[in-house]
Amino acid sequence: KYEKIWLIFGILSLTVFLSIVGFTAFAHGHEPAGGMDTIDPEKVTETAPFDKPGVRQIDEDRYEVVVIAKAFGYDPPEIKVPVGKEIIFTLTSTDVVHSFTIDNTKVNMMAVPGRITHKSYIFDKPGKYLVLCNEYCGTGHHFMSTEIEVY
Ligand code: CUA
Repeated sequence: KYEKIWLIFGILSLTVFLSIVGFTAFAHGHEPAGGMDTIDPEKVTETAPFDKPGVRQIDEDRYEVVVIAKAFGYDPPEIKVPVGKEIIFTLTSTDVVHSFTIDNTKVNMMAVPGRITHKSYIFDKPGKYLVLCNEYCGTGHHFMSTEIEVY
């Protein structure tokens, strides 16, 4: 009789354990992380996802754009994203504080060394969008810009 109780208890604990492992794996899947993540600013280019800056499709309706800001420009130099899809920008800086401000939109992200910032946006019109740095970051600040092509 005792053995049976322990057997059931064992199976129950195993089930609970496996669901926790499964849930954790699911939660940490390929979703871009939210909140205020930290990153070693000296190791940005070696740390995922910043080891591959650029656009990547997450699923049918979502894309992630990984951007590194540095004096005085952005990596990748070219950004092309589709219209009407959720675009999740993931941003950091390797040197000083910059911004990633998309003209005529509500996107105004701070690029802070040591931090990862996320912002989700859906472009409703195709075209070229100017991206500017709004934080004074040095002599080249006024030239720090890039362009997003929405197709
Ligand atoms: Cu970068 Cu101002």
